Amino acid sequence: MLSIIALVALALSATSFARLCHDPSHLRSTYDYVIVGGGTAGNVLAARLSEDGKNSVLVLEAGGSNEGALVLEVPFLGPTATPNTVFDWNYTVTPQTNLDGRTFPYPRGRVLGGSSSVNYMVHHYGSSEDWDRLARLTGESSWSWNSIKRYIARHERFVPPADNHNTTGQYIPSIHSTTGVLPKSLPGWSNGIDQRIVATTAELASEFPFNEDITTGNVLGITWLQCAIGGGQRSSSATTYLKNAMGRTNLDVLINATVTKLVRTGMSGGRPCFKAVQFANGPQGASTVIRATKEVILSAGAIGTPQILQLSGIGDRAELTSNSIETILNLPSVGKNLSEHTLVPNSWLVQGSESLDNLRRDPAAASAALSEWQANKTGPFTDIGTNMFGFLRLPANASIFETTPDPASGPTAAHWEVLFSNFYASGSAAVPPPNPNGSYITAVAALISPTSRELFSICLHTAMNIIQGGTVKLASNNPFEAPHIDLGLLASEFDRFVLREAIRALKRFFCASPWTDYVISPVGGLAGDADAELDAYVRSIATTVFHPVGTASMSPAHVEWGVVDPHLRLKGAEGVRIVDASVFPFVPNAHTAGPTYLLAERAASLIRGY
Ligand SMILES: Cc1cc2nc3c(=O)[nH]c(=O)nc-3n(C[C@H](O)[C@H](O)[C@H](O)COP(=O)(O)OP(=O)(O)OC[C@H]3O[C@@H](n4cnc5c(N)ncnc54)[C@H](O)[C@@H]3O)c2cc1C
Ligand SMILES: *[C@@H]1O[C@H](CO)[C@@H](O)[C@H](O)[C@H]1NC(C)=O
Ligand SMILES: *[C@@H]1O[C@H](CO)[C@@H](O)[C@H](O)[C@H]1NC(C)=O
Ligand SMILES: *[C@@H]1O[C@H](CO)[C@@H](O)[C@H](O)[C@H]1NC(C)=O
Ligand SMILES: *[C@@H]1O[C@H](CO)[C@@H](O)[C@H](O)[C@H]1NC(C)=O
Ligand SMILES: *[C@@H]1O[C@H](CO)[C@@H](O)[C@H](O)[C@H]1NC(C)=O
Ligand SMILES: *[C@@H]1O[C@H](CO)[C@@H](O)[C@H](O)[C@H]1NC(C)=O
Ligand SMILES: *[C@@H]1O[C@H](CO)[C@@H](O)[C@H](O)[C@H]1NC(C)=O
Repeated sequence: MLSIIALVALALSATSFARLCHDPSHLRSTYDYVIVGGGTAGNVLAARLSEDGKNSVLVLEAGGSNEGALVLEVPFLGPTATPNTVFDWNYTVTPQTNLDGRTFPYPRGRVLGGSSSVNYMVHHYGSSEDWDRLARLTGESSWSWNSIKRYIARHERFVPPADNHNTTGQYIPSIHSTTGVLPKSLPGWSNGIDQRIVATTAELASEFPFNEDITTGNVLGITWLQCAIGGGQRSSSATTYLKNAMGRTNLDVLINATVTKLVRTGMSGGRPCFKAVQFANGPQGASTVIRATKEVILSAGAIGTPQILQLSGIGDRAELTSNSIETILNLPSVGKNLSEHTLVPNSWLVQGSESLDNLRRDPAAASAALSEWQANKTGPFTDIGTNMFGFLRLPANASIFETTPDPASGPTAAHWEVLFSNFYASGSAAVPPPNPNGSYITAVAALISPTSRELFSICLHTAMNIIQGGTVKLASNNPFEAPHIDLGLLASEFDRFVLREAIRALKRFFCASPWTDYVISPVGGLAGDADAELDAYVRSIATTVFHPVGTASMSPAHVEWGVVDPHLRLKGAEGVRIVDASVFPFVPNAHTAGPTYLLAERAASLIRGY
């Protein structure tokens, strides 16, 4: 790891700032749109709302510029961009009751591009049934898959992989776009395990079918990973949408600007209007208020958005009062119903040295890979070391369905996901491999259809055990104090059941013939098989995939719960829209950046009326 640490130190020090404002006195006095957060969704809106030249747009971002930072460019270094770096909010989750009371780091990007600048670049859009459920839940058909998938064409630009290999059969070109904004591609560096995985999908086709491309909307099966990588480099919302828009005179971007609250500017039809925001340059910096003539758009992400709402007096009255904040709008759903993908990293010791473990611990190997990346944008650093993944269901006759209705978004949506990594990975638990010089394969299992949340359509509640879901709550009324983030993971027997069955399924996967001369033995607590052993193993090792949603949930306009209506307008107020991952009521069959980009494209078309 030494070499990686040295590279990170180098990259973190090489920050240079582009044509952005640092000084609030350079801003106009008002803008048509003020966007809070220059992250994944915020930069899509900045680009789309400024593109016709008619609107003035301001983006306020707490972090700095992404430019000049190597760790935000080299795909393989992605996992070193967080936690606890200058690009991170450095959150830690509260002790997780169902994970032996453990806490762990909970990164969120704090830099232009937001979490898209620091994430692991897996890029896809979820199950068609996720979007159809959203349309059903909200009563707004424009969220259905048939309606939303048109935004893929505006959003993505499919480009050849870094190694230019023949991609026939690895994706379906006709359902992708080569004319959108964000470069994405298939893996750019072949892993020794890829062909063994493909062979296993043939041998165990009924349990682990091969799926040529999950962008059809049917996610089930094992597929080649598509990543937000183009020409061997990371694509973020900052390197794409924002960069393309930076020359426009009607767009200003202020970095180092932490928004501390939305400001009430009056009443409209008996509803409070919040067409101004207050921000500061850090805890000691001066405070400035800036007004939006059309709308304030909150895009601070699934943690930042509920925190800002609560600081503004918008949230659960009892919680606000306990933090000495006057309630302007009592919206109890703010910061509630947080949903996540629980992650369990399962590793096996393997033969030989074709794994990428050496690249992660041998300074000479890492330095050669970096030189190749710098000179030619080729080699292992163009990739994330994970080339295949998949989405899978419990068998239809699984015993858990006798007590729990199926919570998947539909019959062709998944209960769990697998990601195959060609090295030892331990999530953020920082568990060292048993043999520091060994070679490993890791099959990360993630729970896709969690029931550890408040659900109205499925009766999981007993009088003794009402599941509340995860929460984001203020620690105090100080905007510079991190909120309490309780993910509420694995609170239901269904969730624990899925992870046990996922681990058992992965053991069957590695018993197939393509692995007989490769896989040696499972690592640590993975070796057990009894329910109690697997539960204990999961409790000891599980973290998350960093996919929080639901903390400012969309809901039908007329119902009491929820935070925004189906057009993303803050309920009970005027002048504010929320556009980021916090509005998804359920966590999708997807890593959440892709769905967030489509959401933001849809929001731009709602706002501009195209
Ligand atoms: C380590 C990690 C790995 C991940 N891996 C993947 C992956 O491989 N694939 C995938 O699809 N998804 C992944 N995700 C999740 C995905 O990146 C996020 O779901 C998505 O980017 C969220 O977009 P957003 O617009 O909601 O928020 P963000 O992109 O986080 O944007 C929020 C922005 O608001 C800013 N902000 C917050 N508060 C304030 C404030 N008070 N004042 C001013 N600015 C503020 C933040 O600094 C940030 O720039 C990962 C996330 C993490 C953290
Ligand atoms: C996160 O931690 C890093 C490393 O200690 C630090 O540089 C950075 O300022 C911290 N970020 C915040 C928001 O506190
Ligand atoms: C790519 O592979 C396919 C199938 O194997 C083959 O038909 C095609 O000719 C190849 N394309 C190129 C450019 O080699
Ligand atoms: C951010 O603002 C603070 C307070 O004004 C200042 O000390 C700091 O240098 C600024 N940082 C950047 C990167 O501009
Ligand atoms: C959580 O979401 C469900 C819908 O899935 C809803 O019925 C419930 O009211 C929500 N709870 C809160 C506190 O918002
Ligand atoms: C870059 O590619 C050229 C041409 O293939 C090759 O000669 C050179 O060695 C490569 N550079 C590195 C650092 O790998
Ligand atoms: C489910 O069905 C399969 C195949 O028909 C069978 O092998 C298995 O034992 C059944 N499992 C349960 C829990 O009934
Ligand atoms: C790992 O390899 C290093 C370098 O070859 C060696 O010094 C060390 O003893 C090895 N450790 C183990 C546990 O084998």
